[in-house]
Amino acid sequence: MFIPEHVAIIMDGNGRWAKKKFLPRTFGHKQGVKTAKKIIIAANNFGIKNLTLYAFSTENWKRPKKEINVLLLLLNKFIKEELIELNKLNIKLKVFGDISKFNNNIIKDIEFACNTTSKNKGLKLNIALNYGGRQELVHVFEKMLILNIKKPTEKIVSSLLYTKGQPDPDLLIRTSGEFRLSNFLLWQLAYSEIYVTKKLWPDFTERDLKNAMIKFRERKRRFGSCS
Ligand code: IPE
Ligand code: IPE
Ligand code: MG
Repeated sequence: MFIPEHVAIIMDGNGRWAKKKFLPRTFGHKQGVKTAKKIIIAANNFGIKNLTLYAFSTENWKRPKKEINVLLLLLNKFIKEELIELNKLNIKLKVFGDISKFNNNIIKDIEFACNTTSKNKGLKLNIALNYGGRQELVHVFEKMLILNIKKPTEKIVSSLLYTKGQPDPDLLIRTSGEFRLSNFLLWQLAYSEIYVTKKLWPDFTERDLKNAMIKFRERKRRFGSCS
């Protein structure tokens, strides 16, 4: 099977999953983290080289404080508890986004996990945390000013993004049936194939990931040409 080099996933639908079960939204997030774990392992087994998961957007601060706290706690717990496993699987962890907004303990744990796995040569796992595509581009413009770049090129912009050194996603998956980008990887998704499934993220499985890759293989990518 043809394996995309880079898969990006908007993990959506945790709240609706919980609501369907008459449970609080936070239960959906808890289940969502379990799914993320399974999908990371599946992606690694399939031989995907880069996996970017959208975990918390710059817009998600609009949610109730309690939900935000639980979400961040779960993400922190995941990074701490799975570090040994990620390392064992030779996975290199990177966090995309402005983590300076988080409390010091979370920042330390994230930095420790990224440093510990930085030499790993296997799957590059990017977790987008307090990430916004527009914010990322604003940072690029700031960096260009600092570096006194007078003639920006696409190559220069790409080299200043969180994804520097990684190919753009070939495949974007969004769960829960929503047809929008929600401020995710605005530059990098320019030519990605988009796969939307109605499945809610906590119900997403390895099989669903495989189905998305099968659909991806059937797509005719033209990149503007007429063949
Ligand atoms: C995705 O699930 C998780 C985050 C956005 C952090 P949601 O919480 O958005 O679930 P729905 O969309 O309300 O069902
Ligand atoms: C996108 O989901 C962000 C993440 C999955 C982290 P949202 O649920 O926040 O997106 P909208 O609000 O439906 O656009
Ligand atoms: Mg949502």
